[in-house]
Amino acid sequence: MGFPSLLAVLNGEERAVPPVWFMRQAGRYLPEYRALRAEKGGFLNLVYDSDAAAEITLQPIRRFGFDGAILFSDILIVPHAMGQALTFTAGEGPRLAPPLAGARLESLQAAPKHLAAIYETVGKVAAALPAETGFLGFAGAPWTVATYMVAGEGSRDQAAARLMAYREPERFSALIDAIVDVTVEYLAGQIAAGVHAVQIFDSWSGSLAPQEFERWVIAPTRTIVERLKARCPETPIIGFPKGAGGNLPRYARETGVDAVGLDETVDPVWADAALPKGLPVQGNLDPMLLLAGGEALPSAVRRIREALSGRPHIFNLGHGIDKETPIAHVEAALAAIRKPL
Ligand code: CP3
Repeated sequence: MGFPSLLAVLNGEERAVPPVWFMRQAGRYLPEYRALRAEKGGFLNLVYDSDAAAEITLQPIRRFGFDGAILFSDILIVPHAMGQALTFTAGEGPRLAPPLAGARLESLQAAPKHLAAIYETVGKVAAALPAETGFLGFAGAPWTVATYMVAGEGSRDQAAARLMAYREPERFSALIDAIVDVTVEYLAGQIAAGVHAVQIFDSWSGSLAPQEFERWVIAPTRTIVERLKARCPETPIIGFPKGAGGNLPRYARETGVDAVGLDETVDPVWADAALPKGLPVQGNLDPMLLLAGGEALPSAVRRIREALSGRPHIFNLGHGIDKETPIAHVEAALAAIRKPL
């Protein structure tokens, strides 16, 4: 005991019972989260209140004893720190202004205080976390963050960013480079403040044609990994290129990440055969099956565990937990994940 099993697995150890955490494990499916959000009056008020954000990070650890805690924050804090205005309106999703489809990056006034607030949360969580719990920081990958910065909001097909990348490749490339710079500082800052490992979320990596995937997903991720490794060589980096599908092996080989996350559309049997031997893999229960529950849940858990039993495996969902998910289904999944095979 004492050393986080999550870190042991990220360092290449195999465990008969995989360490487990869930993306979005702190959030709206928890009544204690909803209560604190109602009191503080909204998502961003929680993120920038380090006591509240630390408390929310710890809520799912207390309730379920997950092996990893993920910092409670959002990938859009980086655009906020780069000078876009950020708002979350219930039922509408995030908004960034001005959208960079129609404004110049150079016109923005950087606001690094937004990052400093997050480091304060990291310090508070690190001081309170049980010794056996791994602590994950994170950032969005440049491509995914750029899709929001260009459109000013989420979109189904990321058309605005894909178009800018074709029509104005130099301007788009400068935006990606600027996000890379801030992201390296931001992740190094989280590590200095106390996280044990970091995850890079590339939620929209599935919307790119193959050469664009190379240019806007693989290349900037590799740059972040190289620059972060130069500064923090001991800190594992998990890459999560959601929707990458057949591009996953290339992503795993070429970015230099220490582990890859699989989304729920990836067959773990295929992934095990296609990914480099010994590379730690994270995933990949369908969050919709966790929401649905029932008999299919433990058998799906078992299938994923068996498929990845020959390599270091961290159990997770294929994407964030749905806000309607019953607590009892999370408990049932954890029981199946923690049972000897
Ligand atoms: O995993 C975690 O629990 C850590 C915290 C975290 C959040 N967002 C909290 C959050 C992380 C790692 C994220 C990442 C994030 N944020 C991504 C990448 C991963 C993914 O889900 O694809 C993206 C694309 C975002 C941007 C974002 N944030 C959107 C589109 C939304 C609105 C949609 C939604 O689910 O409400 C958010 C809000 C958000 N981020 C919430 C939480 C808990 C919900 C806020 C609330 O209403 O209470």
